[in-house]
Amino acid sequence: MRQKLIAANWKMNGSALQVDALIEGLRSKLSNPRFQNSKIVICPSYIHIESVLVKLQGSGLQVGAQDVSSYANGAYTGQISAQMLADIGCKYVIIGHSERRQYCFEDNAVISKKLITSVYFGLTPIFCVGETKSEREQGVTEEVISKQIVSVVEACGVDVFAKATIAYEPIWAIGTGLTATPEQAQAVHAFIRHCLQAYDRELSSKITILYGGSVNAKNASSLFAQQDIDGGLVGGASLNAEEFVQICEAAVNR
Ligand code: 13P
Repeated sequence: MRQKLIAANWKMNGSALQVDALIEGLRSKLSNPRFQNSKIVICPSYIHIESVLVKLQGSGLQVGAQDVSSYANGAYTGQISAQMLADIGCKYVIIGHSERRQYCFEDNAVISKKLITSVYFGLTPIFCVGETKSEREQGVTEEVISKQIVSVVEACGVDVFAKATIAYEPIWAIGTGLTATPEQAQAVHAFIRHCLQAYDRELSSKITILYGGSVNAKNASSLFAQQDIDGGLVGGASLNAEEFVQICEAAVNR
């Protein structure tokens, strides 16, 4: 059985004080042995990563970044490398989030480089895919998702997915309060496995696939009950310690 994974994507939120309070709330509740069999990952903004790492030491919770440079090192002012993240103790990195594709113009080629570099330095990428509202309405969701996955396989080889997690995040559900129904999400998750199956059957059944897009304490249980949904990538609701803990409870109770 695949282990459940719940990741908090805090995006560009939180002052130092708010981060302290949030971590305090999470650490006390999530250090419980009940959560031992699932993975819980907190992805703060870069500037807060180190303090979160220190505060979560010994808690069993992992820390991830929200992005990474596509370059290994060198004269790339303002960028942060996979090696630097691994060096300070990060274990995960979100790659190809739709907000980065949209606002930072990241394309599949850059995203593929980020995946390779991250895996090389031992990070587990959380690779995001998803369709826009108009793509769903046009009935091309599967085509869009398949292109996002195949472009990575062609650039990196399918083995990159042996060390990665995928997050299906329908863009129309992110931060909108509109959640994919469990059936809609399950259908795309099964399709993602089907895409990978063409390259590697075993990998397609083992890979962790998360759902993201307005996950909250109310809808988490029904989403996580789906056969191919292995957890969630949670945005807004992860900024509230109590609600995030409830989402983690929903995952362990599956
Ligand atoms: P929301 O949970 O706020 O919809 O954000 C989802 C997301 O983008 C997580 O990466």
